[in-house]
Amino acid sequence: MVYRAVHQRKVGLKSGRGLPGGEIEVRIWIAEVGPEAVRLLPALLERLEAGGRTRVLRMVREGDRALHGVAQVLLRQALASAGMMAPRFRRGPHGKPELEAAGAAAALRFNLTHTDGLAACALVRGHEVGVDAEALDRQVDPDALAPSVLVEEERAMLRRSRTPVETFLDLWTVKEAVAKAAGLGLQLPLSSVRVTLDPLRLRFTPELGWDEAGWHVERHRPTPRHSLALALRRPAGWTVAARLHRVRVEDLA
Ligand SMILES: CC(C)(COP(=O)(O)OP(=O)(O)OC[C@H]1O[C@@H](n2cnc3c(N)ncnc32)[C@H](O)[C@@H]1OP(=O)(O)O)[C@@H](O)C(=O)NCCC(=O)NCCS
Repeated sequence: MVYRAVHQRKVGLKSGRGLPGGEIEVRIWIAEVGPEAVRLLPALLERLEAGGRTRVLRMVREGDRALHGVAQVLLRQALASAGMMAPRFRRGPHGKPELEAAGAAAALRFNLTHTDGLAACALVRGHEVGVDAEALDRQVDPDALAPSVLVEEERAMLRRSRTPVETFLDLWTVKEAVAKAAGLGLQLPLSSVRVTLDPLRLRFTPELGWDEAGWHVERHRPTPRHSLALALRRPAGWTVAARLHRVRVEDLA
């Protein structure tokens, strides 16, 4: 079994002064999506139930169908590896897809992202999770987007950056991952999540009423041309062990 969900409660410090904590294992399934995915689309569709196929076929462009096909099959493979063989889905109040499940499987949480050339799915047991990826070569105008998305310190970071598009997208993925973990998507004003990249830290505006200590975030470069961020709500003091698990599209089809 590739995925091993753990909630290993560690014993607190022997002195009794430390807080008892635990380790949360997160598996991030990654598939690089090249032009071959279009050729493999019929086989990918075969792997999906009617609902999944309909979602994929709603995409107008062939390339988008392939990307979404990979993402949907990747998600099902990740869930199957955690013992969930015929998943059924529902939407949270703000549209976040989640599992309709009972018993132990009800604790499984996932989140999906797709961007040009990459699909990724984060899977964890018992904690709200969000993942966001962006292709770093996408056409984006940071100056146009910054006023609605970034706060002044973040804009100053952009002005200092020698690679402002990359810096913008790094900030964006962290904010989106938090928004997705919260299940809010873009209903969360992204300027209410304040990010420093080096070191990676979060601060929230007081109106959110969220405690930074209850969040874990991390950033990855799953490929040289992609930025990916993971966000997780977890009890303060718990550590998170996230592992990237790479899958070839050929092996999904
Ligand atoms: C839908 C949204 C949650 C994420 O959109 P996105 O970044 O374009 O897309 P991603 O591929 O990262 O994520 C989409 C997936 O998030 C999941 N999702 C949808 N609503 C969600 C929510 N409220 N909370 C968490 N996850 C959600 C879904 O699984 C969705 O994929 P699916 O529809 O194929 O199942 C929302 O924030 C959005 O519309 N974003 C706009 C993106 C944008 O303007 N990007 C510019 C970047 S510079």
